[in-house]
Amino acid sequence: MNDKKFDKNYYYGEIYEDYDTFMDFEKLARGLIRRYSFDSFLDIGCGCGNLAKELKKQIENSNRKCLIQGVDFSEFAVKTANCSFVCESDCRQLKFDDSSFDVVYILGTFGYLPTIDDVLIAMREAYRVCKKQIVFEDVYDNPLKTSDDYDPYRVQFLNQIEWRDLWTKILRDDDSIKITKDEREEIVITKGCNTGKP
Ligand SMILES: C[S@@+](CC[C@H](N)C(=O)[O-])C[C@H]1O[C@@H](n2cnc3c(N)ncnc32)[C@H](O)[C@@H]1O
Repeated sequence: MNDKKFDKNYYYGEIYEDYDTFMDFEKLARGLIRRYSFDSFLDIGCGCGNLAKELKKQIENSNRKCLIQGVDFSEFAVKTANCSFVCESDCRQLKFDDSSFDVVYILGTFGYLPTIDDVLIAMREAYRVCKKQIVFEDVYDNPLKTSDDYDPYRVQFLNQIEWRDLWTKILRDDDSIKITKDEREEIVITKGCNTGKP
């Protein structure tokens, strides 16, 4: 189900002045390419497709092939992205087969889901379509209007440990989960890497 409030006013108006320049997408893409290894990549809640487009550009410039896909449930954002690899989809019901993407990336999307049950449904979906790694970032744990990155549509304000504990509920025993502390504070889940052997 689409949510009409993620409209022009959200991305290019009163909430974010200009979503294209709000973040350094070029640097974000460069860092992801350096830190993770993938031939297919899904950005869940990709907004207007800025990161997906930047990843595609950088990867193609290095003469490499990679399947890049972005999804968002905002009709406005998908229309603005205006490209074949960004489509409309609710993160709680993704239109992809199991294990379709090496890396599934989620930056500041699940914080907009109305309940923790919705978050867990979305986590299960991200897990289902992921083949190797989930990279998750949602660092907004301050709900106050005075906070630098105040966004009135955000609903869930969890810290890294609370997000990690939610992810842990849906993982299997042989998956690993860690919080990176270097370039960005990301929660990184690697599927099936714990063999149980010492
Ligand atoms: C703060 S923006 C983040 C956009 C992008 N990930 C970034 O960091 O630039 C949050 C995005 O989540 C999307 N979103 C919220 N709920 C969603 C849902 N249920 N399914 C898919 N996308 C959703 C919104 O439409 C919006 O584009």
